[in-house]
Amino acid sequence: MGIVGAGFVGPHHIDAVRRLGFVDIVAVAGSNDESGKRKAEQLGARKGYGSYEALINDPDVSVVHVATPNHLHYAVISAALAKGKHVVSDKPLAATAAESRKLVDQAKRAKVIAAVTFNYRGNPLVQQARHAIAKGDIGKPTFLHGYYLQDWLIKDTDYSWRLDPEKGGASSALGDIGSHWCDLAQHMTGLRITHVLGDVTTVIPQRKKPRVAREAFQTGGAADLESVDIRVDDLASVLVRFDNGAKGTFTAGQVCAGHKNDLVLEVCGSKSSILWRQEQQNELWIGHRDTANQILQKDPSLLDAESRGYAHLPGGHQEAWADAFCNLMRDIYGCITQDKRPEIFATFEDGYQSNCIVEAILASAKQGGVWTKVEY
Ligand SMILES: NC(=O)c1ccc[n+]([C@@H]2O[C@H](COP(=O)([O-])OP(=O)(O)OC[C@H]3O[C@@H](n4cnc5c(N)ncnc54)[C@H](O)[C@@H]3O)[C@@H](O)[C@H]2O)c1
Repeated sequence: MGIVGAGFVGPHHIDAVRRLGFVDIVAVAGSNDESGKRKAEQLGARKGYGSYEALINDPDVSVVHVATPNHLHYAVISAALAKGKHVVSDKPLAATAAESRKLVDQAKRAKVIAAVTFNYRGNPLVQQARHAIAKGDIGKPTFLHGYYLQDWLIKDTDYSWRLDPEKGGASSALGDIGSHWCDLAQHMTGLRITHVLGDVTTVIPQRKKPRVAREAFQTGGAADLESVDIRVDDLASVLVRFDNGAKGTFTAGQVCAGHKNDLVLEVCGSKSSILWRQEQQNELWIGHRDTANQILQKDPSLLDAESRGYAHLPGGHQEAWADAFCNLMRDIYGCITQDKRPEIFATFEDGYQSNCIVEAILASAKQGGVWTKVEY
């Protein structure tokens, strides 16, 4: 494999793939020769390139991972598919639904594995909840709610390319983390989002941007800042309708103090409810009407057969974000190397649908908050 972009999340792709034990980490491409070589050395890759074209042209690379800022995804993925390479793209698949649609079609023609890393799918208790819901354990899902809140952009001195529509796309909070909530809600229940009503806000309309780019979650000093107007959301609340008639509501916000990576999804069914919280991801809350509520711990001996394989340590030994990422890679590379069928990973089609949902929410908000059909 080779990876384009090694800032915050890129090294986690490498780490997860390395743990599979059978994948050669061939190359890293950075934004220039110096960074490509430096990152390759730091991450233990054999080669460092200064451009994605050079990495894609390397015959030793058969799987291209994409972890650059969003605006580059389309060009990198399209070039990789043109060379017949498998692609593992971080989300979003592309900056717009129109671009993503083209990539879906190109990937189909190329007949390669084409995955998007909506990584929360890889958590063992997410899979436990998914199979429990599919078996009817909570009855018919009627209401899904939750949020994805972070605080890393709460100060006007916090800045990321995510806040620049030229690099991040038309949305920040919704596109960056609201998209995870929607993917998780649909994956866990098997339902599709059909309609949305969005209320989209820019809490901090002006920020101080560093003249030198920062990688995600990096903070910097006060020196060399310029004032910029912010044209994308950092907070959004959304009402949702699903294809079985269920209703939902969620908030995505990057300006909510104390919430670091706080993704919460609760699915209320006609019999019971089930809640998973990323920051306490080794516990699943199951709520009942007529008996005591339960907390199911991530313990392989307590999980159902279908989800047990995603837990790799005995009960009480905490597993987390990076382990879930590795589960996703195991599924993707199982398909690439052993012709297995995808079990959990998001396909390019899922990535395209995610863009469509975000665009429908933005369109709804632009009209003052009206119910809007998601056009897939
Ligand atoms: N799945 C997740 O949970 C998750 C988490 C974080 C980020 N992401 C996604 O991953 C992508 C990267 O996000 P990040 O937080 O790592 O950003 P980042 O800013 O920390 O890292 C991006 C890296 O790409 C490099 N880069 C920029 N232009 C490049 C080019 N032309 N060629 C090669 N490298 C280039 C930058 O120098 C930087 O090192 C985004 O699309 C983001 O949405 C997903």
